[in-house]
Parts: sequence; C-alpha cells; structure tokens
Amino acid sequence: MSALRNKTILLGVGGGIAAYKACELVRLLTAREARVRVMMTPNAAHFVTPLTLQTLSLNPVSIDTFDLTHESEIGHIRLADTADAIVIAPATADLIAKAATGIADTLVTTVLLAARCPVAFAPAMNVHMYEHPAVAENLEKLRARGAAIIEPAAGALACGYEGRGRLAEPAAIVEEIERMLSRKDLAAERILITAGPTQEAIDPVRFVSNRSTGKMGFAIARAAWRRGAAVRLVAGPSALATPRGVERIDTVSAAEMLSATSRNFPWCSSLIMAAAVADFRPREPAAQKLKKNSRGLALDLAPIADELPRLAARKAGRILIGFAAETEDLEVNALDKLRRKRLDMIVGNDVSRSDAGFAVDTNIVTILDTDGHVETTPKLSKDEVADVILDRLAARRAGKPRSAALRVSR
Ligand code: CTP
Repeated sequence: MSALRNKTILLGVGGGIAAYKACELVRLLTAREARVRVMMTPNAAHFVTPLTLQTLSLNPVSIDTFDLTHESEIGHIRLADTADAIVIAPATADLIAKAATGIADTLVTTVLLAARCPVAFAPAMNVHMYEHPAVAENLEKLRARGAAIIEPAAGALACGYEGRGRLAEPAAIVEEIERMLSRKDLAAERILITAGPTQEAIDPVRFVSNRSTGKMGFAIARAAWRRGAAVRLVAGPSALATPRGVERIDTVSAAEMLSATSRNFPWCSSLIMAAAVADFRPREPAAQKLKKNSRGLALDLAPIADELPRLAARKAGRILIGFAAETEDLEVNALDKLRRKRLDMIVGNDVSRSDAGFAVDTNIVTILDTDGHVETTPKLSKDEVADVILDRLAARRAGKPRSAALRVSR
C-alpha cells in the first residue's frame, strides 16, 4: 500500500515555467490515492491554469488568501492543518527566499508559515540563479529547519542555458514525499541489494542471460530507502532507472556482480540477493565475433560458484536474504536453498507464472525462514512485496517473533 494512500498532500505551485510539470505531479499523486489540494502563487497562474490543476486534482485550487475566508474559518490555517505534507514545486528563487525569511505575502507563503507538517521544496530556476549564494543560503536555512530539498536536475533549461536548475522529475518528487510520510523503521540498516540478470559473454557481441529485468530488487531498494535505510544496489544489466537515494553499482557478468557484492559486504548490515545470477558461463569466450557456419555451435559452459555460502561464512550479525526462482516444487526447493546457502530467510517465487516472477509488475512469493515460518503472499505489486520482505527483515532485526500464524495464505 502506498504511503500516500488517503494522505492529504498540499501542493504549492510557484511562478516559473516548470509549473506545467505540476500537472504530472498531481496525476502521479492521485494515482497513488493521495488527496491533492493545490495552492498557487498569483504568478504561477500565468504558466498553468487553475482549471487544469483543479480538474486533475478533483479539488478547488486556491490562489488568494482572501478566497478562502468566505468559508467562515481562517482558510489558510485550515489548509495548513489538513495537510499531511506540503510540497512546493516548482519552488522559485523568490518563494524560497520568502519561505526562508518568513514573509507571508501570498497564500502559499502564509500557509508555509502556519504549517506543522513535513515540507519539501523542489527548486527550479536558471542555473546562475540556482548557483547564487543567496539561493544556496536560503536553501540551507530551510534544510536546517527540517525541510526536504529535492535537488534540481542538470540539463537543458527553458532559458536556453545548460546546467543545474531543472525541476526534479515528478516521479522523484513523489518518491521524496512517500519517504517523508513513511515510518523510518530501517534507519539503522545499511542494506546491500543485488538485482537483475547477468550477461555471460560468448564472444564480443553475444551473451548468455536470463529473463530477469531487476524489477523486484529495484523495488526493494526503493522501499528500503523510503523506510530510512542506506542502500547500495549492485545491478546487472537493467534498463530500470536508479531509485532515488540509492547508490547504484553497475555490473555485467556474474563474476563482476559477485565480486562487487563481496567488496561491499563489509559495509552492509543486511544483504538481499534478488539478482538472477547465472549458474554457468561460456568457459572460453571467443576474442573475436564467431562466424556463422553450417555445422552449428556447441557451447562449453563452466559452472559459476555460489556466492551466498561464502558470504554467510563472513556473516557476523548480518541478516542474509536470498531468492529462489523456481518452476516446480517451490517450497521444497526454496527450503533446500535456505539451508544450503546458510541464509536467514529465502523468498521463493514461481517464475513459470505469467503474473509473477520475471519482467512483470506483480509477484506472489513464499517466504521461508530459519525459524520454520512459511508465509505465502497473495498477488501483490512488486512494491508491496518489497515492503512485506522488509517487514520481515525489520522484525527479525528487532528479534520479534512473527505474530502471524505459521502459514499465512490470503
Ligand atoms: N546466487 C548466488 N551466487 C550464484 C548464483 C545464485 O549467490 N552464483 C544467489 C541468487 O542471487 C539467489 C540465490 O542464490 O539469491 C538462489 O538463486 P537460484 O538461481 O534460484 O538458485 P541456484 O543456487 O542457482 O539453484 P538452481 O539453479 O539449482 O535452482
């Protein structure tokens, strides 16, 4: 369940060209079942119409402090009080300066003064304005008071310049708001996660791989950061975007992935091996592209040693979670791997189904642990499965016995 569900997000739109991106932001927030209330500065209404934002948010849009007073209550205080989080996007240099000094000259700045909920600012402006010490100091002031600053991205700016100043992607802003509203129950964890397939070279242009896309491991990384963990993600070749706040280490072959995992292992407090690591690799990859012939080609494949038992030998208080991709006898095979690989927990998934396993957005998993607990989830989104796995990690760290019955199958 999204952390945004049934939460009231108050979006303050500033007067900059990036205001048009507020429309996409509203759409993403409502898709996650948040209630969205939009307030705009009078200048923002030059860039995007209140009607557009009203239609997308399904709520009235407020611009003028005095529009709200006919409600027979102090409208701006009520707006501030009903918000679970406030996000200012785009936050112009002017809005940032006013918020930093406590000026209350428009509805948006007045609400910011009255707010007691978490607040995020997503700056967007010309690169030279963004680099100006006045803006940097104002942002620092806001940060020191506890506001989240969603850094702008670098790239081509509407003003014609290149550089930092582009409003962060709406999806990144949503991730930041979700984090603000999440319980930080993993704040003490440093979680190392592997994800995706590996590619084993046959020659310089061909490789052996598998159907994994990395979706499950990336979802765990996203959820772990949201819940306060420091996250390193060792990724095999994957087209997926790096989740916000996550340190990504790109690898290609199993040898690269496993050595990156081993190198980062001393850093972590928990390891989640969600990657579909190859079990075999071409014994001697050809140095040049192999030529076509009419006889065919037999590949000589050498085994790749399992990394998990080697890591388990260096365990020292770390929680180790593995995955088991199976096409038959899921529970029996997963239990065997739990023991053989010396794990604390294993997440088994049936990769022969069309609605679970590789390359889809949903998953059904069976989690087994060393205490003999078995839990099968219903079909959930991979984001939801990620939270179930992390719930189990948090409970294990807290030393809590699981409250659910031995076998939970909904
Ligand atoms: N794994 C690993 N090192 C490898 C291969 C796999 O650490 N060389 C990890 C995977 O990341 C996963 C777990 O081991 O967490 C199980 O992977 P899986 O491919 O399901 O199991 P295998 O041991 O390869 O067993 P089999 O191929 O017989 O199903």
